[in-house]
Amino acid sequence: MEKIIERLIHNLTHAYAPYSRFPVSAIVELKDGRLFQGINVENAAYGLANCAERSALFSAYSEGVRKEDIQRIYIYTDHDYFVSPCGSCRQVMRELMEPEAEVVLVNNTKATKTFINRDLLPFGFSKEDL
Ligand code: THU
Repeated sequence: MEKIIERLIHNLTHAYAPYSRFPVSAIVELKDGRLFQGINVENAAYGLANCAERSALFSAYSEGVRKEDIQRIYIYTDHDYFVSPCGSCRQVMRELMEPEAEVVLVNNTKATKTFINRDLLPFGFSKEDL
């Protein structure tokens, strides 16, 4: 995990967050060990900002990855507290990761807090509801 945390920290410099000045870095780790990276990408039309979690997941899916391939996602910010994924990302993680996949929050002391995907969106909307 140490190597992944170092990549999360390095990738924070890639974040495009000129408006919030709140860079976020995420890495999707597959069951076979492959990694897919993402950072938040903002826009002058603020509502178009894409979170790091979604960037990483969309990058993985763009390469053909599917939910059963994913072990966990790591989320990093340079704060001493844990930053929790937003509601939009929870909805996307509900769709693109298995219920048992892990969501690992990492703070700037390299401490981690791990959640299970299913616990982050109770009674969530999904394709089964359509
Ligand atoms: N952000 C993320 O990328 N992930 C999170 O889990 C929380 C929020 C981004 C969105 C926006 O670019 C900035 O952080 C401030 O909300």
